[in-house]
Amino acid sequence: MQDNYIRFFDTTLRDGEQSPGASLTSNEKLEIARGLARLGVDVIEAGFPAASPDDLEGVRRIAVEVGNASTGQPPIICGLARAVKSDIDAAWDAVRHASRPRIHTFLATSSIHMRHKLRMDPEEVVERVHEMVSYARSLCDDVEFSPEDAGRSEPEFLYLVLGEAIKAGATTLNIPDTVGYTTPDEFGKLIAGIIANTPGIENTVVSVHCHDDLGMATANTLAGIQAGARQVEVTVNGIGERAGNTSLEEIAMALYTRRKVYGCATGIDTTQITRISRTVSNYTGMSVQPNKAIVGANAFAHEAGIHQDGMLKNETTYEIMRPETVGLNRSRLVLGKHSGRHALKVRLAELGYDLGKDDLAYTFQRFKELADKKKTITDADLEALIEDQMYQAHEIYRLDGLQVACGTIGLPTATVRLLGPDDDLLVQASIGTGPVDAVYKAIDAIVGVPNTLLEFHVHAVTEGIDAIGEVTVRLQPENGSSPQRTSPQSGQAHARTYGGYGADTDIIVAGEAYLAALNKLLVASGRFGLAETPTEIAG
Ligand code: KIV
Ligand code: ZN
Repeated sequence: MQDNYIRFFDTTLRDGEQSPGASLTSNEKLEIARGLARLGVDVIEAGFPAASPDDLEGVRRIAVEVGNASTGQPPIICGLARAVKSDIDAAWDAVRHASRPRIHTFLATSSIHMRHKLRMDPEEVVERVHEMVSYARSLCDDVEFSPEDAGRSEPEFLYLVLGEAIKAGATTLNIPDTVGYTTPDEFGKLIAGIIANTPGIENTVVSVHCHDDLGMATANTLAGIQAGARQVEVTVNGIGERAGNTSLEEIAMALYTRRKVYGCATGIDTTQITRISRTVSNYTGMSVQPNKAIVGANAFAHEAGIHQDGMLKNETTYEIMRPETVGLNRSRLVLGKHSGRHALKVRLAELGYDLGKDDLAYTFQRFKELADKKKTITDADLEALIEDQMYQAHEIYRLDGLQVACGTIGLPTATVRLLGPDDDLLVQASIGTGPVDAVYKAIDAIVGVPNTLLEFHVHAVTEGIDAIGEVTVRLQPENGSSPQRTSPQSGQAHARTYGGYGADTDIIVAGEAYLAALNKLLVASGRFGLAETPTEIAG
């Protein structure tokens, strides 16, 4: 491998999924992992298998299905483990099915963490690192070790611990700025010091893992690369614990756009960035802020008259990256009412969706319905349509009909008709503070699962009065009936939340998002005895 090759280690499914409210079903994780493989990441950290049996199963499915791709080299599939035997066993149990498995184990090395969290002496930490890395290495040839809270650890102690990990067989040494405390200058120096002073480090890959508490994660990661790190740990849209992790798209595009400065190569296909960003946002229910670099809705929008004038004269006046480079397709008119099934199939294939016969037939039917309401169907419309299909979990309850009355006089009222688990027709009317509230109250009255709506987000995919609207919601069950999972850092168990997504020209019908989230909650609660099965819709 070239000396200037930067490995992308994606932890969207592990650190990203630890974001408050971002929990994903195992089908969604699998779909994201497929997208990450298409994007060209080198390593997928698929989860923390010791968190719960569900988490172990989710990682195992990714190891089996994404870690053994028949075309090209599949990504390494990695599982996180605390430096304890049972975690390492769980991680190995999950990742061993991949053709290139990795175990990632970690132990804190800052005095704050050793004293208050671990209650261990530095000597005990060194000993445990040696013991657990050796144990992981006895199972797997590829072992990554992270000294947690390295950003606030004594450099001399880090050299010692990392040297011990290398002796025990670690192949990648990851340096986390766990609490996002360091500055780029400090972090670059920390990495340079580690490379210069750790015995045996030349035979390992040095990695960086930064959190964004002070908004410096991207800058710190780039400083780490300049100091010699050759693996970056990142998440799509920068999701992750607290303020999040370094965002994959920012590093990929910084290395690409400023390649003369960094002189580094990557395996990332940047044209997949927009698609994976949308997938992650829709599945997690975590919307991307409009001004987010690279993937925000405004990242390539030019509003000010003076900017528009410059853009019309020459796009490079205000655009340092082409939207096409990140897969943002600006083509306007794609298909319309008279387009046939073949044209739809070809366009979808160009957009990266390879549909089987049945899925295509269903999509074509929905496309025709949409074309009746909307004259021109753009790529963004098609993507919203496909994603809406992909993101529906098991449909225990299905929306069969909906009527809303609202205005300045009288109370907003909704009548909802659902098809229940046994295809029974269930009808309910409710009033609410607004039309959406009325719809959700009516759905709640039928489904009967007490929950708190944590987030409700609407945005228009395209312009115009007939634009497709996307709705993402996040909810949490109220009575603790949802499965619990353990956090790797704190060891605490917490309740899951559930995201739902819907897209339609009618924003109320897009409230199907709510039903999608409720369906996920019901599947997870085991009330309907359903096991998740893989969705095969995406190419
Ligand atoms: O931020 C952190 O320290 C981590 C470790 C588990 C690598 O996520
Ligand atoms: Zn982290």
